[in-house]
Order: sequence, then C-alpha cells, then structure tokens
Amino acid sequence: MTTTSTEFVADSPAATEAFAARWAQTLAPDTVILLHGGLGAGKTTFVRGLARGLGIAGPVRSPTFTLIHEYTIQQPPRLQGLPFFHVDLYRLETAAQLHTLGLEEALERGGIIAIEWAERLEQGGVRLPVSHLYEVRLTAAGDSLRRIRIAPLQKSPAAADSTP
Ligand SMILES: Nc1ncnc2c1ncn2[C@@H]1O[C@H](COP(=O)(O)OP(=O)(O)OP(=O)(O)O)[C@@H](O)[C@H]1O
Ligand SMILES: [Mg+2]
Repeated sequence: MTTTSTEFVADSPAATEAFAARWAQTLAPDTVILLHGGLGAGKTTFVRGLARGLGIAGPVRSPTFTLIHEYTIQQPPRLQGLPFFHVDLYRLETAAQLHTLGLEEALERGGIIAIEWAERLEQGGVRLPVSHLYEVRLTAAGDSLRRIRIAPLQKSPAAADSTP
C-alpha cells in the first residue's frame, strides 16, 4: 500500500514496467487503479508492469472489443489467486455500456483493477466502493521519458460512495 504520493521518472518503457512491477507488489486486495494520461503516455506499458509484478505470464495487451481482460494473480502470496482486471475505456461508446461490461461484478471480487482512460467513468457515475483507490498519472517528458505520479485517493469524484 502507498499512503503518500509517489513520483518517478522512467527513461524507457522497460523502466516504466519495472517501476509498476515493484509497486504492484506493495498492493493490497480490493484495489482500483485509475490511469490517466494522453495517447501513448504509457498506460498500457504501466499495466503490463503491474501484471508482471503480480506474476502474470504471457502477453498483456489492451482489451479492445470487450474493454476488460481478466488474469489470475500469482504473487505476492497475499494476493495469490485473486483476479487482476485490465480495463481500457478508450473505446467506450455510451455511458450505459459502463454497466454492461462487468465492471460492477469485477469490483465485488476483491482483486486489483487497473482502468485506462479512467476519466470516462465519470460519464456513467460508476461507484467504486473499494478499500484502496489510486490515481496514476503518466506524462510524456521527452521521447522516452515519462513522469509517473501515483496518488492515493480517499474517494474519486467519479466514484463517490454515498455511504459515510
Ligand atoms: N518511459 C516510457 N514508458 C512507457 N512508454 C514509453 C516510454 N518511452 C517511450 N514509450 C513508448 O510510448 C508508447 C506507450 O504506449 P502505451 O500503449 O503504453 O500508451 P497508452 O498510454 O496505453 O496509450 P493509449 O492511450 O493508446 O492506450 C510505446 O510506444 C512505448 O514504446
Ligand atoms: Mg493503452
């Protein structure tokens, strides 16, 4: 778990992946990670790193038609067996679709969910009633430099849980 904001500058895709992989190993069950950053900022690269850190082998590509991919976490032991979901809302067509892609069911499974183009959640007023919520912002700072900022959120505006 990260309780304070963290910042890192990665000088290559491999560095972004390695940073994400290390951070993934600190996560707790029932976590949502909201990824922000423009086209090519490195969101999918970061998610690939998360998957590696969680011991998931094989290719990690952005979900396109289904918008959501599910993997099984292999490590660390406290997360083993829980699902890791990779969601990419870039191709979201309607806010109503947010409620049919299985996100609400995914939220009930207590694993880790990483969401690209997380700002699109706001369109649908999706609630994110999870124990841990993070915002990850990636910004290009040169050809292969990416600034990565991780901030823990109490509640996201898109996610305000109405229970106190
Ligand atoms: N330090 C870096 N970290 C991540 N990606 C980098 C870095 N330097 C260069 N790149 C390049 O930037 C691109 C990042 O692509 P990636 O698919 O991860 O971005 P994205 O934010 O998911 O884009 P999209 O909005 O299309 O989903 C890749 O081509 C990658 O090689
Ligand atoms: Mg992407």
